[in-house]
Amino acid sequence: MTQPLHHWLAAAVANDGVDLKLSGVLETIAAACAELAGVLRLAPIAGQTGLAGHTNVQGEAQKELDVISNDIFIKHLRKNADISILVSEELDEALHLENHGAFAVACDPLDGSSNLDVNVTVGSIFSILAVDPGSPDLLQPGTKQLAAGYAAYGPSTSLVLTFGTAVVCFTLDENGQFVLSQDNITVPAASGEFAINTARERFWDEATKAYVSQNVAGETGPAGKRYNMRWIGSMVADIHRILMRGGIFLYPLDSETTDKGGRLRLLYEANPMALIMEAAGGGATTGHGRILEVQPKAIHQRIPVIVGSKDEVERVNALYSHQG
Ligand code: AHG
Ligand code: MN
Ligand code: MN
Repeated sequence: MTQPLHHWLAAAVANDGVDLKLSGVLETIAAACAELAGVLRLAPIAGQTGLAGHTNVQGEAQKELDVISNDIFIKHLRKNADISILVSEELDEALHLENHGAFAVACDPLDGSSNLDVNVTVGSIFSILAVDPGSPDLLQPGTKQLAAGYAAYGPSTSLVLTFGTAVVCFTLDENGQFVLSQDNITVPAASGEFAINTARERFWDEATKAYVSQNVAGETGPAGKRYNMRWIGSMVADIHRILMRGGIFLYPLDSETTDKGGRLRLLYEANPMALIMEAAGGGATTGHGRILEVQPKAIHQRIPVIVGSKDEVERVNALYSHQG
């Protein structure tokens, strides 16, 4: 029997001690993702796939849909009095909504937006934190996340959620409702697939070079088995594939990203994905420790991200401890 998100959340509140208001925050985010799925589906007809002509605080060119997605999130989050703050990739500063709610949402409203022009899967990523609205602390380590998830806008729209224990996946149905499609998702411990932008090889550190060259050597190298490489360039799409069938995603610190601290953002890209991967039995490391234990220093802080199947993440960690 199909189970709508609303019923699933009601059961989590009744049976698993999930806060009713937190479940409401997730419903609000789900409503934003459902609206965004509809907008993305028709964007090429509406002529919305181009550049917006602005750059965001990270110096990246904003697509028109980056801006539209951000506006959709703001519109929905404003309606929920329990959400007092939004941190978004597309906003320079944290946005204080006009209420005194005890929750903050950090989000990447549209991840992988360079793939929009070519109709390849993009996503939204989000993390929920508890805050004191009087003196909100947004710089909390990922272990403090109350819940996290992402929507993947692909052939179907998936909504993956975790409270930090189990991972579940909902699919958007023909009525615009998210319906449970997978329960208790676990990422296979072993895998033969890795995801990294190999065009950056000349910038890599020794550990990354060693890991990739071992994989490329396949059954003739120390890994003792053959690997395939997949890189979509949408973190959500790459992570969703890895969550479903195993693998590893690497955006390590390299010589070109050292000044910035990495490529991907800690609060709304790395932390939510790390919470999901660990809850599914996988790993999430910077190469020098758990992503979830990193103390953020700024809302748009960047960080190296290595997440996925446990055995693969452990192999990378071992190479980093060799490198020192
Ligand atoms: P965003 O579109 O939110 O800026 O994020 C893009 C990210 C991530 O989705 C992807 O894994 C990575 O950038 C791709 O980086 P490269 O362009 O270096 O491959
Ligand atoms: Mn992103
Ligand atoms: Mn984005």
